[in-house]
Amino acid sequence: MSESALLLEIAGLNAGYGEIEVLHGIDLQVRDGEFVCIIGANTAGKSTILRAISRLVPHVTGTLRFAGADLAGRASHEIPALGIAHVPEGRHVFADMTVEENLLLGAFTLRHQPDLPARMDGVFELFPRLRERRAQLAGTLSGGEQQMVAVGRALMLQPRLLLLDEPSHGLAPKVVEEMHDAFTTIHRRGTSILLVEQNVGLALDVATRGYVLESGRIALQGSSAELNQNPAVRAAYLGI
Ligand SMILES: Nc1ncnc2c1ncn2[C@@H]1O[C@H](COP(=O)(O)OP(=O)(O)OP(=O)(O)O)[C@@H](O)[C@H]1O
Ligand SMILES: [Mg+2]
Repeated sequence: MSESALLLEIAGLNAGYGEIEVLHGIDLQVRDGEFVCIIGANTAGKSTILRAISRLVPHVTGTLRFAGADLAGRASHEIPALGIAHVPEGRHVFADMTVEENLLLGAFTLRHQPDLPARMDGVFELFPRLRERRAQLAGTLSGGEQQMVAVGRALMLQPRLLLLDEPSHGLAPKVVEEMHDAFTTIHRRGTSILLVEQNVGLALDVATRGYVLESGRIALQGSSAELNQNPAVRAAYLGI
């Protein structure tokens, strides 16, 4: 692991909905500049970790810190301004708005918006197809293009940490590849990424480090190379 500063620090995190506890004592860190993935089966609690960071889970105890700030006292609407952008599961675009309008909404919470055209240009460099379709209604885009809008909207915040929840779910292999190339570029540009994926092979391909979540507990962690070689990971998730 690099020696860069701790960006996201989760320790002893318990979280749940109503009476039901879903996460049991999660310890997870993302250092500044890292690309980390969380892998695991259906209902393991992957999305709940991201939602806990974004303060979208009602019952949370434990340590949740970002760039030295305690997230515990924050409301969900305060999170983007801290530098955390969350692309949730499913492609949530505003169907009746254009690509451009969707992207602008991503920067809506910014107090100062002097460089919106430059930010949008950065998104278009990453996803050239969105530039071509900037005036098109988002609801008429393909699934892959809608996912590009969802990711682009998050990037309009120029976040320090990007939370991605199954961004390649349901997309054609070629689009998935495009998407993952984009994540590599985003990471190279300096954004830290926490990626949730059910496609374990893909996740370990793009991320440098990973956590394996099983029934709300971290079962394994290591570099992507280590996890790729791990017999349990290979048997359970890579079908080898
Ligand atoms: N809003 C909610 N209210 C009650 N229970 C919920 C809620 N959201 C999730 N859960 C439950 O929490 C558990 C973990 O869900 P979560 O969405 O975090 O899993 P996941 O690992 O992201 O799964 P998937 O791979 O299917 O997306 C599941 O058993 C789910 O039913
Ligand atoms: Mg999920």
